[in-house]
Amino acid sequence: MEIKNNTVVITGGAQGLGFAMAQKFALMGANIALIDMAQDLLNTACEQLTQLKGVTSNIKGYAANVTNESEVENVFNTINSDFGYIGVLINNAGILRDGMFIKAKDGKVVKKMSLEQFQSVIDVNLTGVFLAGREAASHMIESGKGGVIVNMSSVARAGNIGQTNYAASKAGVVALTTTWAKELGRFGIRVGAIAPGVISTAMTDAMKPEAKQRMLAVTPVGRLGESDEIAHTAQYIIENDFLPAAW
Ligand SMILES: NC(=O)c1ccc[n+]([C@@H]2O[C@H](COP(=O)([O-])OP(=O)(O)OC[C@H]3O[C@@H](n4cnc5c(N)ncnc54)[C@H](O)[C@@H]3O)[C@@H](O)[C@H]2O)c1
Repeated sequence: MEIKNNTVVITGGAQGLGFAMAQKFALMGANIALIDMAQDLLNTACEQLTQLKGVTSNIKGYAANVTNESEVENVFNTINSDFGYIGVLINNAGILRDGMFIKAKDGKVVKKMSLEQFQSVIDVNLTGVFLAGREAASHMIESGKGGVIVNMSSVARAGNIGQTNYAASKAGVVALTTTWAKELGRFGIRVGAIAPGVISTAMTDAMKPEAKQRMLAVTPVGRLGESDEIAHTAQYIIENDFLPAAW
């Protein structure tokens, strides 16, 4: 699918990886709709995108919480009518709230991961992906033009110490991706996921040093990734019309 003149919606697009993707696609001539909770970050992000040299496309920011069903329905309806259609969704909004499942000292349990700590991450990283994916796919089907959905998973999907909540959410994102790819192909909608290792962003700055170190130790290239390298991967999924080739 062509990126130039397409409409690319990016959740959690006001900073980090989402913003890096917005930069890349705006420079390629895409119209960009950023969805984020942080209005101040959204304003700055839209201003920066509009000021990029050579960018003449339509750039808009929308404040919405991806965990809230009616907010997600409304924001996708608004974007669809503002831009005419939705060609690409980058389902990227995500949070970390790391902690051990259970902490024990001298045979006594001293701390357990709270349900709230577990649920808050599932709400954004899994339910949010479900809601945004559902609304984007509905508009893509009704437009008759098909589309591409790129979901953000993580290497943590295979399990990672201190990330019960995050790992479960990211494994769930892979399951949503393969299911949607199989269900939505008939409507001309392709669905793929990216499962990055550790990339240098505000989110990884907030990670506990031990967790970051553990992830780096299993990174084949032995360094943090750059946001633009993930944006490049998203570009590949959007442009390669044979993906997903097989699951
Ligand atoms: N950075 C990494 O190393 C890394 C590695 C693997 C996967 N990922 C995944 O990539 C995605 C982006 O990560 P990042 O590092 O850019 O994070 P980030 O914290 O820099 O940006 C995430 C954005 O999501 C927004 N957001 C959070 N909750 C939201 C909600 N409920 N509704 C709407 N917006 C919300 C935040 O305001 C923020 O702008 C996440 O899904 C993350 O899990 C990141």
